Amino acid sequence: MAASHPPHSPHPPSSAASVAEARTALLKRAARDAMDYLEGEDARSVAPRPEAVAALSALRGPLPPGPTSAEAVLHLLDTYGSPATVAKTGGRNFGFVNGGCLPAALAASWLVSAWDQNAAFFVQSPAAIVLEEIALEWVRQLLGLPEGTGGAVVTGATMANFTALAAARHALLARAGWDAEADGLFGAPPITVVVGEEAHASVLKALSLLGLGRKRVVRVPVDGQGRMRTDALPHLDAQTILCLQAGNVNTGAFDAAAAICPAARAAGAWIHVDGAFGLWAAASLEYHRWTKGFEQADSWATDGHKWPNIGYDCGIALVRDPDHLRAAMSIQASYLALGEHREPSDYNPELSRRARGVELWAGLRSLGRSGMAEIVERTSGHARRFAQGLRAAGYQVLNEVVINQVLVSFGTAEKTLATIARLQTEGTCWCGSTVWQGQTAMRISVSSWATTKEDVERSLAAMLKAAEE
Ligand SMILES: Cc1ncc(COP(=O)(O)O)c(C=O)c1O
Repeated sequence: MAASHPPHSPHPPSSAASVAEARTALLKRAARDAMDYLEGEDARSVAPRPEAVAALSALRGPLPPGPTSAEAVLHLLDTYGSPATVAKTGGRNFGFVNGGCLPAALAASWLVSAWDQNAAFFVQSPAAIVLEEIALEWVRQLLGLPEGTGGAVVTGATMANFTALAAARHALLARAGWDAEADGLFGAPPITVVVGEEAHASVLKALSLLGLGRKRVVRVPVDGQGRMRTDALPHLDAQTILCLQAGNVNTGAFDAAAAICPAARAAGAWIHVDGAFGLWAAASLEYHRWTKGFEQADSWATDGHKWPNIGYDCGIALVRDPDHLRAAMSIQASYLALGEHREPSDYNPELSRRARGVELWAGLRSLGRSGMAEIVERTSGHARRFAQGLRAAGYQVLNEVVINQVLVSFGTAEKTLATIARLQTEGTCWCGSTVWQGQTAMRISVSSWATTKEDVERSLAAMLKAAEE
């Protein structure tokens, strides 16, 4: 006797045709819901309304004992999930360093989800692996990095820092006759890690995950923009990892790589660059002067999901000598049938993984070199307009607006925080807060391809109104 299924069973009905029909109807509905969501974004508050966030509790509770139909699942998601999201793909979210998602990258992510590929090995997905390779090479070219540089597409810049620094750890310890991957760090020769006082927290997290320690780093004093003071660099040698920054998360400032790198290289230090968003300035003739010298490094971390506006998750680790990355990351097991091709599993911290390189490929292909340059130039121009409008109204801009980041103080810390709170509640746009070298400020990060001049003017007016209230 055939097993009977509950009314909403996800188990296949008897006919393959009816399975396909039901799936197609479901996907069409999901696409419709997604398009409605995107089309409605401009009219809604950037931050979700408190009622929408509170309504999420309707989704809590124990896992139901039996199945729910896919249609009902999608309905729950759209009813409760969609209103409780942050409107990110519109042009007025200036929080953190959040891009939007380019249409080509979004469409590719839908297709990739339908493919359901495992991008660990070539044999599991030739398309995913080849597209990822092409995308990595395009990133190398856009960033002006040395030929032969290899890399990995990971979840974000935190993991990209981790991945690149694992290659650094391997190289330095191998040089000292120690096999870190086989023998771990107990008893290993010491490595000195040098970071700027304003290094991003993710670099310190990566160092802690790698057993190199957050606290045992040597911190280099910085100037008022967060740039490492070149006159304060410590002794560097072949057992040193020097972590530079291309684009400070608060000010957008770049370490003076052209001044620092030649001596660091001559000393044999490994130079790592955290360029989560700033490195992309290399794509623009107008802005690439900030990235001069960073090409002399040994490894780089950046994000596709920041300035290039590829959707999440898309971090990129690049290593000048890919053999070091391979030595740090490779994996072997008898059932892993590896071929002649470059296998992502040999360069990534992950084994099974989404084919996220495909979205990177699609987004970059849709932009081309000029499209990437234009995002850098347009968003940086918007940032200057914010700075100019806020200064003209009498507020203090704390940073030199070199790229797309603006820090503004509305007076006392209390007034600045109250302004930010009013702005977030009012909903026209969204900005977060920070403390820059002791001073409370509002951060404006213009990172979305979708931000228009009109978005900037509307948002500026909302900021000024929030500050006046
Ligand atoms: C300079 C810098 N490094 C690293 C990161 C971490 O990136 P992710 O959130 O993609 O891990 C950020 C995030 O804003 C950043 O600005």
